[in-house]
Amino acid sequence: MSSQSSYLEIDPSLLPKHIAVIMDGNGRWAKARGKARMFGHKAGVDAVRKTVSTANSLGIQVLTLFAFSSENWRRPEEEVSLLMELFVTVLGREVKRLHKNGVRLKVIGDTSRFSKSLQDKIAAAEALTESNSGLTLNIAANYGGQWDIFQSVQKLAGQVERGEILADQLTEADIQAHLTTSSLPDVDLMIRTSGECRISNFMLWQAAYAELYFTEQFWPDFDETSLTEAIAWFINRERRFGCTGEQVKAMLQVEK
Ligand code: IPE
Ligand code: IPE
Ligand code: MG
Repeated sequence: MSSQSSYLEIDPSLLPKHIAVIMDGNGRWAKARGKARMFGHKAGVDAVRKTVSTANSLGIQVLTLFAFSSENWRRPEEEVSLLMELFVTVLGREVKRLHKNGVRLKVIGDTSRFSKSLQDKIAAAEALTESNSGLTLNIAANYGGQWDIFQSVQKLAGQVERGEILADQLTEADIQAHLTTSSLPDVDLMIRTSGECRISNFMLWQAAYAELYFTEQFWPDFDETSLTEAIAWFINRERRFGCTGEQVKAMLQVEK
C-alpha cells in the first residue's frame, strides 16, 4: 500500500462555508521585534493576502476579515490615520488581482466616517468585483456587531413608521434580512489570533452557532498552514471525522 492511501480525500461539503477572522496581534508582533506598531500592521497585509488566496483556492464561499472595529477609533490619532492610509494603499494595489482571481469584495461597516476618497475607492472596488463568482471577501471596517444589528432594526423601525409592516408581525428573519451579510450563510468558523479569547463585538448575530478557534499565533505569522489547521480542527469538531491540516492542504487547487 502506498503512503498516499492514508490521505483520504475530504468531501468539500465538510468545509466551513463562512470563515470570519479577528486579525489580532499586529502590535505585539512588532513590539517583539523592537519596531513600531505600524510595522506589524504592514506585515499583517501579507497574512491577509495568504489567507484570501488559500480560502479562494479551497473554494470557501465567504471570508470575513475584521480590519477595523468601531472601537478602534479610540486608538492614538496617528495610528488611526496610518491605518486608514494603509487601507487605501492596499485596496488600490490589490483590487485588480482579487478581480482576476474571481473574488467578490464587499466592505461591511459604517463607512460614512471614512474620507470621501476612501469611500469612492471602496465603491469602485465593490462595483468592479460585484459579478465575480469566487470567494466573497468581506472586509469589516468600522464594523461592530451591535451596530450591524442596530442598523437593521433602524431600517425596520422606518418601515413600521411608514405603515409598511406591523410591529407585531416582525420576525427574527426580518432582522437577519437587513444585516450587512443578509444574503450570505452564517459564520461556521470564527478564528481569533494572538491568544485573546473574546469576540470584541464582531458578527454577534451571524456567529450564533459558530465554532470558535483561538490560536496563540500573532496575525502577521498566520499563513496557509495556520488556516488549513484551523479548518481541519473545524471539520473534526463538527463531523467527528479525523482529518489533518495536510489533508485540507491537499485540497488546494493550483494557484491561478
Ligand atoms: C490587530 O492588531 C489589528 C487591528 C486592530 C487594526 P492590534 O493592533 O490589535 O495588535 P495588538 O493586539 O496591539 O498586538
Ligand atoms: C479587534 O481587535 C478588532 C480587529 C481585529 C480589527 P482589538 O485588538 O482592537 O480588540 P480588543 O480591543 O483587544 O478587544
Ligand atoms: Mg489587539
